[in-house]
Amino acid sequence: MPETAADFHTAREQATALVRAQLDDILRLPQGPERRLVEAMRYAALDGGKGFRPFLCLATSDLFGVAQSQAVRVAAALECVHCYSLAHDDLPAMDDDDLRRGRPSLHKAYDEATAILAGDALLTLAFEILADPATHAEAEVRLALVANLARAAGMDGMVGGQTLDILSPDLSLDVAELTRLQGLKTGALIGFSVAAGAVLGAADEPQTAALKDYAQDLGLAFQIADDVLDVTQSSATLGKTAGKDKADGKATFVSLLGLEGAQQEAEKRAAQAEAHLSPFGETADPLRQAAQFVIQRKN
Ligand code: IPE
Ligand code: IPE
Ligand code: MG
Ligand code: MG
Ligand code: MG
Repeated sequence: MPETAADFHTAREQATALVRAQLDDILRLPQGPERRLVEAMRYAALDGGKGFRPFLCLATSDLFGVAQSQAVRVAAALECVHCYSLAHDDLPAMDDDDLRRGRPSLHKAYDEATAILAGDALLTLAFEILADPATHAEAEVRLALVANLARAAGMDGMVGGQTLDILSPDLSLDVAELTRLQGLKTGALIGFSVAAGAVLGAADEPQTAALKDYAQDLGLAFQIADDVLDVTQSSATLGKTAGKDKADGKATFVSLLGLEGAQQEAEKRAAQAEAHLSPFGETADPLRQAAQFVIQRKN
């Protein structure tokens, strides 16, 4: 298997830096007691993530020649939702995880109430960013982005999946049910990251459908790899607590299929994701590299 291309990592780092600059600008520190809230939002959103979803949004937008200034705003919005989901995922009432991106989780660095509120504020900020005319001149496009992100983040997307995940120790899920869970908790936001580029770029129906299929397999490969890394890597490499899924009795692809079975499933999904890109030819190579990255990454 070829190594993930160096230009993929450069592009991912660029996407991360662009989104960081955008959020740095938006998240100005106020005076007064609410300064603590914005400090916590900055802690959660400005440091240490891989920038995988921003990369996807920018790379998909590139397929259609979308202006980078627009794509970066959408990438910043979806990264706000992603970072909120991690802050809440780590809370004692959820996964109770003290380590995130190699640092104390948000509720450890601040306190639980601040972590909840900073997550709430990041979630709502995402929609404020999308609704701003600076994101796109046409209100219809902004509305489509808002509606798509709301669906990806909510009960039929990430939050629905997180609910199933929390209940999973008592559910005896089969592979099909776990696939659905992971498609919701992780796949939905990855799906939005790709779909947003298609919305901004006014993609036609076959293009939109191909990208949806790509993102569905990619999202599953991403979460299966996350399950695999939880048992194969150290906390130091992961930047989050290793071995947490088994300790919590979570249903994962490793718990259902074993380590090798899960690795094979992730590779199969990544290959399928790449295959869905055939209508785009070589212009979609960065998205193909993203599929390789998902299964080769170490954190
Ligand atoms: C972690 O996502 C949560 C999952 C959906 C598995 P990432 O692995 O993308 O987290 P960061 O942003 O790089 O920290
Ligand atoms: C979380 O899945 C997915 C989210 C929607 C936040 P995990 O609980 O497996 O993510 P990590 O391993 O803590 O990053
Ligand atoms: Mg979790
Ligand atoms: Mg977790
Ligand atoms: Mg995990």
